Amino acid sequence: MKVLVTGGIGYIGSHTVYELIKAKHDVVIVDNFSNSKKETLEKLKNLVGQDLSFYEGDVCDKAFLEKVFQEEKIDVVIHFAGFKAVGESVEKPLLYYQNNLESTLTLLEVMGKHNCKNLIFSSSATVYGSPEHLPIKEDFPLSTTNPYGTTKLMIEKILKDLYQSDSSWNITILRYFNPIGNEESGTLGEDPKGIPNNLMPYIVRVATGELEILSVFGDDYDTKDGTGVRDYIHVVDLARGHVLAAEKLSGLSIYNLGTGHGYSVLDLVKTFEKVNNVKVPYKITDRRPGDIAMCYADVTKAKEELSFEAEKTLEDMCRDSYTYIKNCKKQG
Ligand code: WQD
Repeated sequence: MKVLVTGGIGYIGSHTVYELIKAKHDVVIVDNFSNSKKETLEKLKNLVGQDLSFYEGDVCDKAFLEKVFQEEKIDVVIHFAGFKAVGESVEKPLLYYQNNLESTLTLLEVMGKHNCKNLIFSSSATVYGSPEHLPIKEDFPLSTTNPYGTTKLMIEKILKDLYQSDSSWNITILRYFNPIGNEESGTLGEDPKGIPNNLMPYIVRVATGELEILSVFGDDYDTKDGTGVRDYIHVVDLARGHVLAAEKLSGLSIYNLGTGHGYSVLDLVKTFEKVNNVKVPYKITDRRPGDIAMCYADVTKAKEELSFEAEKTLEDMCRDSYTYIKNCKKQG
């Protein structure tokens, strides 16, 4: 099938493009490089060993999207494009609501007009807010505490209402836990601009000496070692989950994509040091406002209905993350 991947040059998008091609699907990529680099497109072509159908433009631009759908017979759309920095969304809420909602509404309108009604939406475990119980199931209560998370929740609601109005749509919502790592060659990877907000991109920069020391945001949580616990999933496993979801689209479905295991901040630091034989100096600092103590997925539904199960280990995630950053340093 021919799959349109919006945000297909981004961190998760580029890994999903790679897995789609490995699964022998045709791919069309749309990206405006607002949070990705042009050289990633060339790296992706080298990785897959073939040219790629790529359109540079903004998913908010209806005329641009119309052009793509007129030139390409799209079977399924995987929609990644959107802003995703929690902290930035608090500082610039209108930017996030405008971009993330308008791009999705424009995409849905153009898809409907071209009778392409098969959609995979990139959502996030952030829609669960601070869970009462663990592990988290897809039917748990939803609440958000930042504009980024709220855009995801709003778009999920839009998609549910769209399906209620027209059940000829096939829509799958995928709620990611904490994606880290990259494909093992270290060609693709997460490369946030500026100082990283997330844990793994920060750890790798401390390991290479680019940053001096890791701040561990609090060690007084009610967890095994007091530091925050999250369900880290290898981005290659996450990408595979998208391919399976795209191949099994039917009706309206929602799935957690995680491993079902929680690891603490110190678990990540110690595992990273062990598999890469490097030191990651850290200091304990105050909690980060808005952080929750623990979060990990119940992964039963994706396993039973998509035959999806994460395969890579925390060691794989730590090793592959370091491979990527070392490659980046080599390339200068
Ligand atoms: C993980 C743990 C921190 C940085 C975020 C978004 C979520 C999703 C994934 C988009 C926490 C601790 C972190 C640091 C630290 N993004 N930490 N020092 O906050 O679980 O989720 O990214 O969908 O929406 O909220 O991920 O990597 O920022 O933090 O101690 O320098 O690491 O307190 O316990 P988070 P994270």
